Amino acid sequence: MSEVNPRALIEAAREASKNAYAPYSNFAVGAAVLLSDGSVVTGANFENASYGLSLCAETVALARTSSEGRLKDVVAIGVIGGRMGHADTAPVSPCGRCRQIINEAAQLGGRDLPVFCGGATGDEIAEYTLSQLLPAAFGPRDLGMA
Ligand code: THU
Repeated sequence: MSEVNPRALIEAAREASKNAYAPYSNFAVGAAVLLSDGSVVTGANFENASYGLSLCAETVALARTSSEGRLKDVVAIGVIGGRMGHADTAPVSPCGRCRQIINEAAQLGGRDLPVFCGGATGDEIAEYTLSQLLPAAFGPRDLGMA
């Protein structure tokens, strides 16, 4: 099991946010998923002209993780966000849908995942556990899958 370095995850998420496709909201989000072997899978938000079809950065990162067959190996997640062209420092935490999607990885892997949240810039990192962000979660366990 690799050490979790919150600042490194936040920096990886910031790097990923440079590829945000967010021409409608102009709000760039990056996510970095740490796996048990120390590798990191990133994602950025991916918007659509049909606004409601947009995908969040965390969802993109976890879909990439799943497509590598690694969903059960997730040990931590970092997320950052901010308005494009601003130096926002307030930590951004995952939206409700993303919390549910993070829970899929958490229950499959049998872990209560740490979630590190940062702004587009700055040193502030808010640290949560998924169970704080999504208490009494419904998930694969309820379906006998984990
Ligand atoms: N967004 C994320 O990528 N993750 C979140 O957890 C919150 C919101 C994106 C969706 C949209 O592209 C933009 O931020 C503004 O809502």
